[in-house]
Amino acid sequence: MNKLLEKFEKDGFLIIENFNSEIECNNLMKRITELTKKFDFDGYPSIFQTSEQERTSDDYFLNSGDKISFFFEKDAFDSKGKLKNDIFNSLNKIGHALHDLDPIFNEFSRSPQMKDLAKNLNLSDYLIIQSMHIFKHARIGGVVDVHQDSTFLYTEPESCVGFWFALEDATIENGCMWAQPGGHRTNLRSWFHRSENGGTEFHIFDTTPFDLEKMIPLEVKKGTCIVLDGLLPHYSLPNTSEKSRQAYTIHTINPKATYSKQNWLQRARDGLLPI
Ligand code: FE2
Repeated sequence: MNKLLEKFEKDGFLIIENFNSEIECNNLMKRITELTKKFDFDGYPSIFQTSEQERTSDDYFLNSGDKISFFFEKDAFDSKGKLKNDIFNSLNKIGHALHDLDPIFNEFSRSPQMKDLAKNLNLSDYLIIQSMHIFKHARIGGVVDVHQDSTFLYTEPESCVGFWFALEDATIENGCMWAQPGGHRTNLRSWFHRSENGGTEFHIFDTTPFDLEKMIPLEVKKGTCIVLDGLLPHYSLPNTSEKSRQAYTIHTINPKATYSKQNWLQRARDGLLPI
């Protein structure tokens, strides 16, 4: 087993510095600005807040698997429902098929270094099931509650692996990720899936609480890639600083695993492509 794979299996995550160049990170953020300018906001926002998943049951969210969809921060609106700021500075994230629909995101998601990394981790045939651009704007960027990514991308057997790319420096002040080294050696706690009434719900497998005391901050520089095991508990705090913390993330699954038809995110499975 190579050193990288050994460390990944031991810790449940990997931090790879200088994975993407400054130019690659800037190009991605420039593209996001362009996409946001083209976004035709109809005044009916889908608000994404991972501490209140029930908010994410609307059709716009549930149909975003094959699209480039825009999600707002909950604090972006005033009491009359009007945006307090411009659209760009009000967004929480864009998802969930950037990697397939946008050529610049496709190139970033399937770069030569990504193919090399996937090979080293025995993930060359893994399919990219979703992608997200996360803004985490200064002062407004919200919390992401502690979770395991496999809760949202459930396969049998469990196979989700995430790749998180720092497009800007991530620090404790601007809401970097926190994770528990070795915390992936545990059960999947829950499964977020579509319910029969058309909404979504959590199915609970295991009520054991996550051990927040064991979590450490993953402060990383722009250009760093963090690889995450789907069972690794992780979270991020709100950005209370004056600096934004943009990140791009993709999630992959084993093509041989069964992807549940009840998962919240549905895509034309035949259309899924590897890293
Ligand atoms: Fe996550």
